[in-house]
Amino acid sequence: MFTVQKLSDRGAAEILGLDCARPLAADTLAALNDTLLDFPVTVIRHQRLTAPQQAAFSRQLGPLEAQDRKTYCHPDDPDVLILSNEVRPDGTAVGIVDAGDFWHSDSSHLPAPCKRTVLYAVRNPATGGDTEFCNMYQVYDALAPDLRREIEGRDGIHHISKLQNPRVTVSPARRDAAAYYKERERASEPVRQPIVRTHPETGRQALYVSPRFTIGIADMPDAQAQILLDRLFALMLEPRFHYRHHWADGDLVVWDNRCLNHQACGGYSLPDIRRMHRTTIAGDRPYYRAAA
Ligand SMILES: [Fe+2]
Repeated sequence: MFTVQKLSDRGAAEILGLDCARPLAADTLAALNDTLLDFPVTVIRHQRLTAPQQAAFSRQLGPLEAQDRKTYCHPDDPDVLILSNEVRPDGTAVGIVDAGDFWHSDSSHLPAPCKRTVLYAVRNPATGGDTEFCNMYQVYDALAPDLRREIEGRDGIHHISKLQNPRVTVSPARRDAAAYYKERERASEPVRQPIVRTHPETGRQALYVSPRFTIGIADMPDAQAQILLDRLFALMLEPRFHYRHHWADGDLVVWDNRCLNHQACGGYSLPDIRRMHRTTIAGDRPYYRAAA
């Protein structure tokens, strides 16, 4: 029904011969779901999708999250968020400019973060615009035994505001960003997430912290927590865990936020345009279950 080819030992594969603009037959959808678990980064090649078609495809993978930034929703479907560096003649941004510019797992700052993200390349810049993925199953597997003991059963503290996190900076490319994060800081509580997350479908353990969203460790003095987080992030940053995706026109990438971190690599600027359409599949409360 479609072909799967491995792209990387870090859990990336490409699918050829699947048309996501049309509803999937039940057996095709079941095979796709299996592929998404085997390969947390799945690149579905050669798509041509309107925003409503992308949303309809995504809904077959589960209920969608409502987008909270209405300004950047696609006019043809409010479940589709525009990520873009395009600017209108009046100076307003067409989409989110600095989306994903530090390693993170999508919406881990929410109590029930999104399960999967579906990103469609509408327009790629001539240079730059790659997305890097880090396989957090493999990072967990590579943890030194002492480090694994230290984090077992503990919770990280996640927060959306970049202003609370010395490991990140607010992009000067987004004019309203500082005000946005100040407002979010007022409106958002920090959220506790297990540092080791048990994947609810595969049962595998994955490290679930990120430089973008994890700002502390619950029930641990901050100085000690920051040293521990630095050690975890240093391991995560080792290239042996990474797959870097160079987008082709028509790529539709589906990734699993329960076992991956990712970041947008940047490296392009106007008049070169990068435009992506994003949908997100609603998820569950993360948990940790010790191995039997
Ligand atoms: Fe992201």
